[in-house]
Amino acid sequence: MRNSPNQLGNNMFIINCKNYNEIAGDKIIKIAKTAEKISRKYKIPIAIAPPHHLIPLITKFKIMILAQHMDDKKVGSTTGFMVPEIVKKSKIDGSIINHSEHRISEKEIKSLVKRLQKLKLKTVLCVKNVNEAKKYAKLNPTFIAIEPPELIGTGRAISTERPALITNAVQAVKNARNSTKLLCGAGIVSGQDVSKAKELGSKGILVASGIVKAKNWEKIISEFCKGLKSQ
Ligand code: G3P
Repeated sequence: MRNSPNQLGNNMFIINCKNYNEIAGDKIIKIAKTAEKISRKYKIPIAIAPPHHLIPLITKFKIMILAQHMDDKKVGSTTGFMVPEIVKKSKIDGSIINHSEHRISEKEIKSLVKRLQKLKLKTVLCVKNVNEAKKYAKLNPTFIAIEPPELIGTGRAISTERPALITNAVQAVKNARNSTKLLCGAGIVSGQDVSKAKELGSKGILVASGIVKAKNWEKIISEFCKGLKSQ
């Protein structure tokens, strides 16, 4: 385990690589190496969620590694599924659950959060609105990540377009009175978007295209870290 939950602080920075061509094959190594360097420099915990088959290429770096998805399937005869107990053995730290681009049922969410907690894996549970944040915060995932689907990949940031969504989700998570922290994502492309999210009460960010598609990873990851530290 690279970071214990209490080392995560209030500045979690998750880069979801999705299936962007920019990180395909060996290119995942470059972004992971850059993230490790900048994470050390700014003392900000950075997690990378690579396409699953690329996980082994980056386990040597001192960053967190998250699966992009898990399936609530059994160990054994379950071809092609991401089974928590098996994936854990490939040195990952946790998983994104219920991403907007890979939604699953409430029953599966509940079961997966329990299974991952039992395995001491971190859970980044994605929600699209405040009602879902309220409902799923009760499960005590490590993070609830709120992302309005219509802003994903647009370059129009949740923190400037839908600020109330963040403040209301922060409150919903607080009301659950457990250790869950609120992250936000969608359309975040600049340090300013990041610092605004922090100002609104978010404990970090979940980002994809704003980092992966940027020309200079070192520059943009540094800019986001400065944004996280600005509050
Ligand atoms: O998982 C993060 C994501 O859905 C946000 O995407 O491209 O708007 O940063 P993006």
